[in-house]
Amino acid sequence: MAGLILAIETSCDDTCAAVLDGPRIVANAISSQAAAHARFGGVVPEVASRHHLELTVPVVEAALAEADARLEEIDAVAVTVGPGLIGALLVGVSTAKAIAAPRRLPLVPVDHLQGHVAANFLEPDPLEPPFICLIASGGHTLLAAVHDPATHQVLGQTLDDAAGEAFDKVARLLGLGYPGGPALERLAADGDPAGFELPVAMSRDPGLDFSFSGLKTALVYLCRDLGPDGVAERRADLAASFQASAVGQLVAKLDRAIQAGDWNAVALGGGVAANSPLREAVASLCERRGLRLKLVPPELCTDNAAMIGSAARFAAPVPYPDYLSYDAFPR
Ligand code: KG4
Ligand code: ZN
Repeated sequence: MAGLILAIETSCDDTCAAVLDGPRIVANAISSQAAAHARFGGVVPEVASRHHLELTVPVVEAALAEADARLEEIDAVAVTVGPGLIGALLVGVSTAKAIAAPRRLPLVPVDHLQGHVAANFLEPDPLEPPFICLIASGGHTLLAAVHDPATHQVLGQTLDDAAGEAFDKVARLLGLGYPGGPALERLAADGDPAGFELPVAMSRDPGLDFSFSGLKTALVYLCRDLGPDGVAERRADLAASFQASAVGQLVAKLDRAIQAGDWNAVALGGGVAANSPLREAVASLCERRGLRLKLVPPELCTDNAAMIGSAARFAAPVPYPDYLSYDAFPR
């Protein structure tokens, strides 16, 4: 795809729009709804779609303003079509169609997870396949093999909760706010990761899938046995032990995937990639295995539209009017 791409991403709780010129980000606008969902302790689908309805047009305008570009200069519109919350996705898909159709522009439907992979193809320093990508966020946890920039193969994924979801649930158990990952990491910094013996889930499973709900349940039982005073006294140790076990599982599966193939690099994506103990563990694993570690900046790790525009460069554009009947898909 040549020319300027306008990209829109509304699959979860961030309203995002970006303008790209090839691998270069010209504008990357985002309006996070985290505060709107905080009082519910998690993302509420209906609240998310309502916010997207209000925010999508202003965020697209903000991206165009930041790019100093007019709608007339855009050559294609890219949009996340799934997976995600259906009501949220529909807002982005309808907006993209409404922008593209009157000008007969092509539309590029993008898979959200391929977007996370494609964050690694952006300037500066775009990554060359083959590489392994570990994506861990509040909504997904997966290991992807990337052999060509247009696609990825899922090597393993979570069988239940996403990694970030587990951080959020345990954070709530320990009386921390939403999103809980960053707060849990801060609390864990003062705790003993060996304070409680928690198994690393799936370590005996020969596959590359993940599971986090058992770990969360183990924490629920631990807290019940400790009682409110015991929990209050050992909060930091509980957080550190949980974090060590969750990171241990991510790193163990990543190492297994590394050893099963021939790779140039390992890339980390998703909100959980902000976790320092995870970053440090993956960095030392990469050093041990002689692989480069690619870490995109935090704003490209979490949901954003620049990664959707990046994926669109390698995807097939759908000409007008074929995309008018295009739908969003929740999974
Ligand atoms: O990618 P993201 O911003 O949004 C989606 O889920 O799509 O990821 C947010 C998730 C939340 O579950 C949050 O608790 C987690 O990433 N997270 C962290 C950290 N920062 C964000 N988890 C652990 N440690 C962190 N430092
Ligand atoms: Zn995501």
